[in-house]
Amino acid sequence: MGRIFRWFSRPLLAVQDSEKAHARSLLLLRLFSSNPFSRSLLRFLYKPKRNLNIQCFGMEYNHPFGLAAGMDKRAEALRGWESIGLAFSEIGGVTMLEQTGNPKPRMFRNGRDRALVNRMGFNNPGSEKVAIRLNQVGKQTIPVWANLGKSKVTALSDAKDDYSTSLERLWPYIDLFVVNVSSPNTPGLRELQHGDHLKEILDACILKNEACAKQHNGKTKPLLIKVAPDLTTSELELIIDTAITCKIDGIVATNTTLERPNETDKIYQEQGGCSGSPLKSQSTAMIHHIYSYTNGKLPIVGVGGIMNSDDAWEKITAGATLLQAYAGFVFEGPSLSKSIVNGLHRKLQQSEFDTIADAVGSAHQ
Ligand SMILES: Cc1cc2nc3c(=O)[nH]c(=O)nc-3n(C[C@H](O)[C@H](O)[C@H](O)COP(=O)(O)O)c2cc1C
Repeated sequence: MGRIFRWFSRPLLAVQDSEKAHARSLLLLRLFSSNPFSRSLLRFLYKPKRNLNIQCFGMEYNHPFGLAAGMDKRAEALRGWESIGLAFSEIGGVTMLEQTGNPKPRMFRNGRDRALVNRMGFNNPGSEKVAIRLNQVGKQTIPVWANLGKSKVTALSDAKDDYSTSLERLWPYIDLFVVNVSSPNTPGLRELQHGDHLKEILDACILKNEACAKQHNGKTKPLLIKVAPDLTTSELELIIDTAITCKIDGIVATNTTLERPNETDKIYQEQGGCSGSPLKSQSTAMIHHIYSYTNGKLPIVGVGGIMNSDDAWEKITAGATLLQAYAGFVFEGPSLSKSIVNGLHRKLQQSEFDTIADAVGSAHQ
């Protein structure tokens, strides 16, 4: 099936505007996963047959590979992600207020480098509408995470209310929250990664999380922070220190980068964050650093340039327990999860490890 995507669908998508191609693919997945017959067909074609069970954040995952934020901002195709074999999905970024994002065009592709540049700017319907949507679609069979961003009009000093309001609205429907202070496309957002801002936001989210748990007679949901790959080592270490002080459950590494592999291609002259293959080693280096700085005590979700099982294994051995991709789905299509999970299974058999959990961080031994 991967070949069919490479020969037919990829060339067709490549001649379309990136954002339109994205919207059409999402619509197709939504339609295909909306009835039991076509869902079974998707599962038959794309769902990995192997289980690589792994426990993380108090939940059981069938394997370590899930959907990165940004692909399904409105929670449109939730059933589709499970049907094509992902172990979890992350919806959003969702902000407190509905917003249209930056002017179009704002998403660009370079097929040769398998790179994307985007400056979407958190286009999303806002957390109130997303909560209604999640209520309508009901409980999913795989964990659903939410990526929380800040509304553009909210001042940095009020960011804590923006994040914690979205958390409260989405709480009943979401299994885990990612506080995203690392998107490069909302002015000033990355400043929230530093100093008092970050602690204020995390404290507000923790308080709201506890209040929601009490109100719903449940347990608090895991809370993660997503970091930028462009941080200096000392900036990253300060964020990790804050995360540990606030008892945050884990780190997502990384968001898109402001760096460019070269200046020759015109998409690299576009403003925004770059992802896909050019980001791979930068994000893996951050995973290595977080793992060694925390002695492997803080679970890491590895994302950035995962296109195949070699890339996935590299991130796991660097220290990531779970993995995500965005660009990989754009360039490799829906068979990505199957090829990654089957490849990881083979790598495990060839290694000295019995489980994926045993392999996490093994490059540090
Ligand atoms: C078009 C687009 C939109 C994105 N939107 C978000 C977002 O809303 N929140 C977020 O945390 N990351 C967002 N990301 C970043 C991805 O989740 C991921 O961290 C990044 O693309 C690196 O992974 P990849 O190389 O597999 O694409 C977006 C990426 C792209 C390409």
